[in-house]
Amino acid sequence: MSERLAWGILGTGNIARQFATGVNAARRSRLAAVASRKQESAQAFAGSQNVPAAYGSYDAMLADPAVTAVYNSLPNSLHHEWTIKALRAGKHVLCEKPFALSLAQAQEMFDVARRQGRVLMEAFMYRTHPLTHRIIETVRSGAIGDVRLIRASFCFKVSKWQGNIRFNPALHGGVIMDVGCYCVNFARLFAGADPTGVHVVHHRQSDGLTLEELLRTADVVSLHVPLTPETHGLISRERLSLLQDGATLINTARGAIVDEDALVDELVSGRISAGLDVFADEPNVPERLLGLANVVLTPHVASATVETRAAMTRVLVENVLAFIRGEPLPKDIRGDPVE
Ligand SMILES: NC(=O)c1ccc[n+]([C@@H]2O[C@H](COP(=O)([O-])OP(=O)(O)OC[C@H]3O[C@@H](n4cnc5c(N)ncnc54)[C@H](OP(=O)(O)O)[C@@H]3O)[C@@H](O)[C@H]2O)c1
Repeated sequence: MSERLAWGILGTGNIARQFATGVNAARRSRLAAVASRKQESAQAFAGSQNVPAAYGSYDAMLADPAVTAVYNSLPNSLHHEWTIKALRAGKHVLCEKPFALSLAQAQEMFDVARRQGRVLMEAFMYRTHPLTHRIIETVRSGAIGDVRLIRASFCFKVSKWQGNIRFNPALHGGVIMDVGCYCVNFARLFAGADPTGVHVVHHRQSDGLTLEELLRTADVVSLHVPLTPETHGLISRERLSLLQDGATLINTARGAIVDEDALVDELVSGRISAGLDVFADEPNVPERLLGLANVVLTPHVASATVETRAAMTRVLVENVLAFIRGEPLPKDIRGDPVE
């Protein structure tokens, strides 16, 4: 292709910006236009990404003959509608994942693309990565034997909840739509086959859980709050009793945040287990916890810097080696005589 493919971008969000940066660095593509619900956003985006045309409506950009292909980076709920509109406007479309909200929507989108004679593709970029191709070749060649089980998980840290499309059911956010679709896509790619059944266990969440809901439903609860008047006594005996049988409590939150007597009672009963980094009466560990199989004690490793952790590990190793040799411990971290 001698002519560079002229892209129009629908939306001015996070991934649109990344896409624009990629196109600006590409040899066979160029940016022709960007469209936003607001003219100012389109203009600001165009200014920062060097896009020649900025539109204050999506329709206006689709009417621009200078745009050959459209990148649909809108929220999931708008993929179907705006992909079809772009195809009907004669554009090729790269639509963000998850492609559609249902099989019927996906079929309609491909039907329109076929009728319009335009290319339509879902933006699963990992599928075009050479590493992915190499892995598929390796698996299909039988180099690692028959595929018996594919276990996939996709996690990332979210720092912004408010206004995040991922947590908005009205925009069809949610974990399955946002990243679960990668795992499903990946499993189908590697299996080279369609599913014969689907079983789903899910946890529904709207605008965030209350503390009580979190305690009642989580398998693992990890505490990281600072001690403030609001968090003092936060995990009371009553709240601890809400934890599911078999749940694990990780506590790295220093200070009187957990009712320690209640926690020790729960641990001694064996109902829950815990990883404890902090104690009320530092450095003393409650006697009743020593020797319990359901408690892992970590001496402040969760809150320390990498350097501190390295130093603590060295102290530990020196102490263990001295103990094995039958020598007195070189570092007594409690300040008491060590037996
Ligand atoms: N392939 C990947 O690696 C990848 C990575 C991240 C996200 N994605 C997908 O890309 C899509 C967008 O994700 P994102 O992270 O870029 O989201 P985002 O930052 O929230 O951007 C979404 C954009 O959609 C437009 N929009 C239209 N109606 C909206 C509404 N009611 N509420 C909020 N925004 C609305 C907005 O642009 P205007 O205000 O300019 O109209 C907004 O900037 C999602 O489908 C997501 O799954 C893909």
